[in-house]
Amino acid sequence: MIADESVERVRESADIVGVIGEYVELKRQGADYRGPCPFHQGTHRNFSVSPKKQMYYCFVCHAGGDVFNFLTKRLGVDWPTAVRMVAQKSGIELVETQSRHNADERDDREPFWEVNGAAAEYFQTTLWADDLGADARAYVEQRGISRELADKVGLGFAPREIGLMRAYLNTLGFDDERLAQVGLLVTPDGASEPRPRFRGRLIFPIYDVSSRVVGFGGRLLGPGEPKYLNSPESPVFSKGKLLYGLNWAKQAARRDERMLVVEGFFDAMRLIGAGVESVVAPMGTALTEEQAQLICRYTSRVFLLYDSDKAGLKATFRSGDELLRQGASVQVVTLPDGEDPDSFVQANGARGLEAQLATSIDVFERKIQLLDRGGWFADLRKKRQALDRLLPTLRATSDPLTRDLYLGHASSAAGVTRDLLERELTTPSRGRSTSGNRSSAPPPRDVAPLEERGRPGPALDVARVRRGERRRVGGERTLAAERELARVLLHRPAYFEQVIERVGVESFRDAELRQIIAAMVAKGPDAGFDVLASTLTGDAVVVMQDLLEETGGLEHADEAVAGSLAAIHKGTLARRMEEIDTLMPLAASGEKDELTHEKMQLVEELRSLGGGPWKQFR
Ligand code: UTP
Ligand code: MN
Repeated sequence: MIADESVERVRESADIVGVIGEYVELKRQGADYRGPCPFHQGTHRNFSVSPKKQMYYCFVCHAGGDVFNFLTKRLGVDWPTAVRMVAQKSGIELVETQSRHNADERDDREPFWEVNGAAAEYFQTTLWADDLGADARAYVEQRGISRELADKVGLGFAPREIGLMRAYLNTLGFDDERLAQVGLLVTPDGASEPRPRFRGRLIFPIYDVSSRVVGFGGRLLGPGEPKYLNSPESPVFSKGKLLYGLNWAKQAARRDERMLVVEGFFDAMRLIGAGVESVVAPMGTALTEEQAQLICRYTSRVFLLYDSDKAGLKATFRSGDELLRQGASVQVVTLPDGEDPDSFVQANGARGLEAQLATSIDVFERKIQLLDRGGWFADLRKKRQALDRLLPTLRATSDPLTRDLYLGHASSAAGVTRDLLERELTTPSRGRSTSGNRSSAPPPRDVAPLEERGRPGPALDVARVRRGERRRVGGERTLAAERELARVLLHRPAYFEQVIERVGVESFRDAELRQIIAAMVAKGPDAGFDVLASTLTGDAVVVMQDLLEETGGLEHADEAVAGSLAAIHKGTLARRMEEIDTLMPLAASGEKDELTHEKMQLVEELRSLGGGPWKQFR
């Protein structure tokens, strides 16, 4: 027989147009191909083949199905033969086994699927046919889940009692080792006997795309932590590569030409129960790259239904970027406050949900909307940060048309030219490896609060400056000046007041030096070493010690103070000039005038200091 996975792979990669095209004369029409129907001997082009959906359909005789189905009907071959034919045409090697009982050729994951399948049945029986399942049955009923729906998803219950599941599965021939390998049994440190991982939990079997049980999610019936517990990673369970519900959703997604993404088990189950089967749940996290790829095998139109709280938005935008990378179109659905898809559909039904989908907005629009509402485009400095939030998404968007559209939106929302955005886009982002290994990229952040992301290029130094990263320009000199100033102040506290008047504590950009100066402000410049040290980190204490041991040149304290102050001041001016350069391209014309004026003054001041470090402070 042919392994399920191979069949799925053949279906995925089959050139349906090529295969059917050998029997029907097909012509392209939009995204599909049309020809005369071979089943009712039609003469008009009522027979349609969709490469996207990997399906064919006749509008007259309503014959329809996948590529295998076509061959069985057209040629009268049996199904495995059709699969082999398509595989051969598509250049796919089939994994064939004599039968399920031929141990040599079995997929080595088979034992794990088997034990999970048996456990799922045990949990299901416990839920419906055991006294121990009474509370769970009441819980299922109270949440409004019908028996029919529960059976469809294979709902079960894991009793609190230790030993029942183990004994039962042992009698079926599954030993403890195998139970442990899939995480059904765990042996806590120091314990002699293994215990069940799931105790007193409602059990959702988690299926892979071919409907094999690969793991479980278990929900407590009442309050407690953690609310949900999943199987651990195992040879068959890898949470980031699976989507709960995909086994049911894959056909529906093709048919509906869309996929809904919800957060959790109950959401997915509720939608399925309401007849909305094109739904998957990544089980409480943002979509990974693999999960986004999985979805895009079936459809490129995705609706995200995460919560609108902070974590939900973060997951929304992270998922959005992954999906945009795969070329999908991504819509964000916002439900009324406090509702999740489960509660919403329970109250409003599938029709209510469809209405809500109709009000969804594009993920990039949503991002802009939130930034706009937060006032991030109104203030010049914030605008820089806001753009830094939009750029990763623009970069992730692989579909050129969508990207073009996004560029237009971003440019008009932020009030910057397209040119500027395009230039920024072509600047490779720092932290993202140039080798094309995307997994090393920094994770996208949610919208609020905005933090700077570091990126190179002349226009991006604000971010560096804010991070306290020292620039080449005078950076070393400024640090030396800070250090010298701190040293003199420690040895000659009499200078403290006049210095701190000119440069505030914040002017010290070195973290340790800043601590030392702050300590002198707090405890008084004459405070002893121990008093100052009591407020410092270990690193700062070491620095202070070093400074106190350097006693050279103190007879010229006057000049040292003046020189250091001038150098620090110049550093501040230079940084502000750089900052202006980065803000300039984003500025509206009125703001531009102001910035230009400020910059001219800075140039002037710097020039006046240039004659020598002493000048201003003498
Ligand atoms: P939610 O906390 O939103 O729960 O977690 P829910 O889906 O609304 O569940 P109910 O309605 O309270 O029963 C969403 C998903 O996040 C994962 C689960 O997959 C859950 O379905 N999750 C949540 C965990 O893995 N562990 C947790 O402790 C909580
Ligand atoms: Mn819920």
